[in-house]
Amino acid sequence: MLKGKTVVVGVCGGIAAYKAVEVVSRLKKLNADVHVIMTKNAEKFVAPLTFRSICHNPVITDMFEEPKIWDIQHISLAQKADLVVVAPATANIIGKVAGGIADDMLSTTIMAAHSPVLFVPAMNDKMYENPIVQENIQKLALHGYLFMEPDTGLMACGTSGKGRFPSPERVVDYVKEILMRDADYEGLKILVTAGPTREPIDPVRYISNHSSGKMGYAVAKAALERGACVKLVTGPVNIAPPSGAEVVRVSSAVDMYNEVMKSYESFDVIVMVAAVADYRCASVSEKKIKKSGETLTIELVKNPDIAAELGKVKGDRILVGFSAETDNLLGNAVSKLALKNMDMIVANDVTMEGAGFGVDTNIVKLIKRGGSRIDLPVMSKENVAHKILDEVLSIRKR
Ligand code: CTP
Repeated sequence: MLKGKTVVVGVCGGIAAYKAVEVVSRLKKLNADVHVIMTKNAEKFVAPLTFRSICHNPVITDMFEEPKIWDIQHISLAQKADLVVVAPATANIIGKVAGGIADDMLSTTIMAAHSPVLFVPAMNDKMYENPIVQENIQKLALHGYLFMEPDTGLMACGTSGKGRFPSPERVVDYVKEILMRDADYEGLKILVTAGPTREPIDPVRYISNHSSGKMGYAVAKAALERGACVKLVTGPVNIAPPSGAEVVRVSSAVDMYNEVMKSYESFDVIVMVAAVADYRCASVSEKKIKKSGETLTIELVKNPDIAAELGKVKGDRILVGFSAETDNLLGNAVSKLALKNMDMIVANDVTMEGAGFGVDTNIVKLIKRGGSRIDLPVMSKENVAHKILDEVLSIRKR
């Protein structure tokens, strides 16, 4: 299944290093070309020979050792890798990379990698919760590094909490997901809405919201990268659309509604990321409204709910919506999912640091029809987009 794929597994010094042995073994069984880089401390937990025997490649432990049979350049593996997996990832390696330090083979390879890098943190729960570690994770996520959430449970140090290495099976499943993404959307057509809408009050004023369009543009870009044909219906934003998409710029919710309803039929997947205004002005003044009394009342009327309308007519198209909330995140998201007949809703608490409007990262929960839920850690909006697309495909296969 992973034939032709090169996976570099970076093993750090933590008790979970022994679980990396199973990760390597499973990757090898899937026919990946697996190379292991161990930190000095990792060698205290597991012998390099263990990994060498399983992956059938030299194990790299020292940046300056003499070249063996393979083309040693200190970044040769970084160039060759389709994916670098750091498992277990200690607070130390996360801190080093976040701080731009490359002082051994593993940190050097991570920094020089062209491929995605996945960190699988495992450490004492208090260390994991340490704000400095969390800040480092957020910083790296912002730069596109991927993270798996540690499991919660009893740890080697005797305490119980969040910090356990996830099961090797789960790690390998995620690795497969990342490596199999290449062109899995070829032949599929995706319609994405993005950005805010603007509801005019008069020729110079409007009602809008803080949506930056970043999340929707990230979905469009990720789908293009995976071979989809993409139409992006976007409200007014200040970012450039990904090249390769058909872009239609709209302003108001009614414009967006008209554009989406006129074209949805030819699409397989519709992802409604736009923050559509729920109300518009009952009448738009033709002239600039002049300041007069102490108060001003504007009458608003309801806009069409694009997602709900699509839900009625979608047939077997996959409809994904977003639910940006400030309270009762799950309750609100689940009821929107049902009300609008969506297949999946992406719930995000926009009050959380690292999530929501304007920022480059997001923290979301993917909730599918039927109730299954995936809680994602903080990650770049591009990586959230890929996770959404992964789940859309799994819904389609059902
Ligand atoms: N949506 C839409 N048309 C609208 C309002 C929302 O298509 N007029 C879509 C959004 O693009 C999003 C989903 O519906 O995918 C949920 O949007 P949200 O604003 O969170 O929900 P609302 O139904 O508007 O509920 P509320 O504003 O009361 O939270």
